[in-house]
Amino acid sequence: MHKPDFKEAKTTDKRPYETKKFSLEDAYKNYFSGKTYFLKTYGCQMNEHDSEVIEALLEEMGFQKEEDYEKADLIVLNTCSIRENAHNKAFGMLGRCKHLKEKRPDLMLGLCGCMSQEEVVVEEVCKHYPFLNFVVGTHNFYQIPELLVKSLQEGLQVEVFSREKDLIEDLPTERKTSYKAYVNIIYGCDKFCTYCIVPYTRGRQRSRTKDAILEEVKQLLEDGYQEVTLLGQNVNAYGKDLYQDYSFGELLEDVAALGVPRIRFVTSHPWDFTDHMIDLLAKYPNIMPSIHLPVQSGSNRILKLMGRRYTKEMYLELVQKLKAKIPNLALSTDVIVGFPGESEEDFEETLALVDICQFDNAFTFMYSKRVGTPAEKLPQQIEESVKEERLQRLNERVNHFFLENNKKLVGTTQKVLVEGASLKQKDAYFGYTETNKLVNFSGKDLAIGQIVPVIIEDAKTWSLDGRAN
Ligand code: 5AD
Ligand code: SF4
Repeated sequence: MHKPDFKEAKTTDKRPYETKKFSLEDAYKNYFSGKTYFLKTYGCQMNEHDSEVIEALLEEMGFQKEEDYEKADLIVLNTCSIRENAHNKAFGMLGRCKHLKEKRPDLMLGLCGCMSQEEVVVEEVCKHYPFLNFVVGTHNFYQIPELLVKSLQEGLQVEVFSREKDLIEDLPTERKTSYKAYVNIIYGCDKFCTYCIVPYTRGRQRSRTKDAILEEVKQLLEDGYQEVTLLGQNVNAYGKDLYQDYSFGELLEDVAALGVPRIRFVTSHPWDFTDHMIDLLAKYPNIMPSIHLPVQSGSNRILKLMGRRYTKEMYLELVQKLKAKIPNLALSTDVIVGFPGESEEDFEETLALVDICQFDNAFTFMYSKRVGTPAEKLPQQIEESVKEERLQRLNERVNHFFLENNKKLVGTTQKVLVEGASLKQKDAYFGYTETNKLVNFSGKDLAIGQIVPVIIEDAKTWSLDGRAN
């Protein structure tokens, strides 16, 4: 079994990888014809997009999708390590798979994603779940076909690379919809925020080449896609690891010029957000006025301990500039409560920042200790009950502004991308505004994937109600 050296993940080499083209070996094509798979995805959009690739790989091998895991011939878990509860959910599912395997010894099982990159997890899985077919890391899930076939002869295959493998282009993708697509532009992250496991599980930042990205977007445009989301843990750092003078702003402008009707990008780190990017948002109507800008805390002391590289004042200045240049901007954020050492005063500074920024959406989390991150070792870990109480107060505060911002839209007409029809109600649809707000609306004979004007009639905390003309 290949035993990874996890220490290697901390290498500071620049560009220790190559770009290679993928093609599925003929021997694996249709190998599992007639068999079914169930794929469960945990975590962020990165994992969701990786799952689109895994699905396409499995389907090229002949597998068909099965929605009920108890009936599938193969179960794959694409896991997340960002917080302990994601971790626990995957282990819960692994336990259910173990029972199923006892009843059906032919069942094939695989684990991939961020948890496979954690040394402790790999050790535990090898010890308690040795009947798995494969454990595959985030840098090499394209090897699933080869490893799955090999496992039928040799048993559990573990292929986890601590150090970034080559960037693989031309992977097949089974996209969830025919109107909205994710496009990876950068993998990994170099920020090493002290609470975060991502730089260890996803590795150092590696940007795809300009040509590969623009080709993929052009193809999506030809295929009629209405919305493209440029994806990365920190998209603003795009290009910093490439030996070419081409920044995220330049990429965004090139993508906008191609004429994709709606362009989004996630996630932005405030530290790398340039004035050039703000100008682009103001200039191009097809770059959507919705920015996800994680702040994490409103206390400078905590931001410093988190290794976020900006102060509250810098964040507020950026928000002010964004709001001044993009009047219809919807701003969303991530906040962590109960980071080690967070006092009541620190937390109140976060609440005060929320009052100033008046976010349109916020993902709020209790700090979760992650093995191997610097914050794990910090003194003054906060009690769960205190974290819970702070989370509740924070949620009340952010929810207030979601509703207030939504109310301002009542009576306006919003352009909505129709994403689905209600199963329960006739002539009822749902979709998202340019500012990424969910709208439930009435309309007649609307096509999914079309952009339509919708008059907003009512506002709720997490959605809007309206009618199409
Ligand atoms: N505990 C709680 N929240 C975390 N996040 C990242 N790591 C942790 C952790 N250890 C949150 C951050 C990040 C989002 C994706 O997840 O807010 O922006
Ligand atoms: Fe994690 Fe910080 Fe990188 Fe975001 S920027 S992925 S929080 S290390």
